[in-house]
Amino acid sequence: MIGRLLVGGSLALSSLLIAGCSHVPGARVAEEQVMRPGAVTNFDTLFAQNCSGCHGAQGKNGPAINLSNPVYQALVDDDTLRMIISTGYEPTLMPAFARSDGGMLTDQQIDAIIKGMRKEWRKPGTLDGQNAPPYSATLTGDAQRDSRCLGPSAHPATGRTERPAL
Ligand code: HEC
Repeated sequence: MIGRLLVGGSLALSSLLIAGCSHVPGARVAEEQVMRPGAVTNFDTLFAQNCSGCHGAQGKNGPAINLSNPVYQALVDDDTLRMIISTGYEPTLMPAFARSDGGMLTDQQIDAIIKGMRKEWRKPGTLDGQNAPPYSATLTGDAQRDSRCLGPSAHPATGRTERPAL
C-alpha cells in the first residue's frame, strides 16, 4: 500500500514537473510555432512564399510563364526544372533559389517544389498522339540566324548595324 502511494505520488509529481517545464515563459513557444525557413517542405507554402509573386497563385496568371499549363508540364523534365529553379534563368528575371547559388532554398525544398508541381499540374496523357517537339532542341544555335531574327544589332567585331546578307 505504502509502495503504491509512493509510486503514485512520484508519478503525479513527475507529470507536474513535465507540465511545468513546457510552460516556462517564452522558452519553447516560439520554437514550436515558427518553423525555421529551411525546414518548410509543404509545396503550397513554398510556392506561395517564393514563386507566386511572379508565376501567380496556382502557378498561373502572373507576369511570368504559366507553370501549371499541363502542356508545359508534359514537355519539361525534372532535371531541367531542378536546374532552372536552382541556378536561375539568365537573362530573364528568374532568380537562382539553391543555397549553393546564393538562394534561400535547400535541395530538399527544391525537390518538394518539383514534386508538388508534378502532382498538382501534370496531367498524364496530355500529349498522347500529339507528336510534340522536345522541350529544347539539341542542335547548337546559329548566331547569324539569331541576329536576323532579333533584327539589326551591332556586330561585336565591326560595330556595324546593317543586317547580314541572307
Ligand atoms: C522575380 C520573379 C520570379 C520569381 C520569384 C520566380 N520566377 Fe520562375 N521565372 C521568372 C521568369 C521571368 C522566367 C522566364 C520565363 C518567362 O518569361 O516567364 C521564369 C522561368 C521559370 C521556369 C522555366 C520555364 C521554362 O522556360 O521552362 C521555371 C521552371 C520557373 N521559373 C520556376 C519557378 C519557381 C519554382 C519559382 C519559385 C521557387 C520561381 N520560378 C520564382 C520569374 C520568376
